[in-house]
Amino acid sequence: KESKIGKAHGKIILMGEHAVVYGEPSIALPFPAVEMLATVRENEGPLRIDCSYYHGIADEMPEILQSLKKAIKVALDSLDKPYENLSISIESAIPPERGMGSSAAVAVAVTRAIYQYYQTELSHEKLLELVSIAERIAHGNPSGLDAITTSGSSPVYYRKGHDFVPFDLQMDAYLVVGDTGVTGQTKEAVQSIADRIQQEDQPISLNKIHTLGSLADHARTFLEKNDAVSLGKTMDHAHQLLVELGVSNKELDTLVKAAKKAGALGAKLTGGGRGGCMIALVANEADTFALQKTLREAGAVATWVTSLKKEESR
Ligand code: PMV
Repeated sequence: KESKIGKAHGKIILMGEHAVVYGEPSIALPFPAVEMLATVRENEGPLRIDCSYYHGIADEMPEILQSLKKAIKVALDSLDKPYENLSISIESAIPPERGMGSSAAVAVAVTRAIYQYYQTELSHEKLLELVSIAERIAHGNPSGLDAITTSGSSPVYYRKGHDFVPFDLQMDAYLVVGDTGVTGQTKEAVQSIADRIQQEDQPISLNKIHTLGSLADHARTFLEKNDAVSLGKTMDHAHQLLVELGVSNKELDTLVKAAKKAGALGAKLTGGGRGGCMIALVANEADTFALQKTLREAGAVATWVTSLKKEESR
């Protein structure tokens, strides 16, 4: 049988991370600058998984490998195929556990590759359903946002339980992404907010979550109006609320402060937090170079740039 490749890419949550878990709106963008490839080949005997992507972190976080195995099993079960006679290799440029959706992306890529290998059509709806089963292992309580954006090509406005709404970007501005190099802890961060809400007798955290949702709605309006200055302010406000909810950390705050000091219109963590990546908004392409340098000097281990106009990110 011919080998087959399945693809997915990274994602960036512009607004609404964590709040989306509680039914609030969110905005996320596909991030094609970083890709994930899964190759499925014929193999005699038990299933073989080759995954340079997990080297170094699989020992520390065995649940990551478990979620990949779960994604493979879910896809094979849905096709009534045995968990054997395959060799699956994963190559990824998505930094793992950094809020770029790597766990959803690996499930998307592997599910696509398996369906292609068995020459079975896979609707987007079915793909999302299968990935969400695997994602429950990685996240505990996934909103579904990661699966949608790592598999799709449009930015989306998304509320859990509603159809996602794809839209076009038309803002004259750029996002600079900075990676703290610290492994994010999405599952723990999601759980810590749940604990906080449970322990409070006043709805303080729930109000913050609701405000984060409103900010996502405002952000969508500002994106449509090409108002980068206001979008920047909503990003700053969102970061402040995420700090207050306890899901930022020292490294993220350092990069966010450095970006603001360097003149970014707004800056915030992106994704689960407690590590992982932050994003900063600038109006001119020329400013993206200086900002990347600033972020690296402030401790970022990697930086990327993506345009908020409908064009390729890099
Ligand atoms: O850290 P990431 O890329 O997995 O993003 C998590 C986003 C959350 O809103 C915190 C959780 C979710 O399921 O949407």
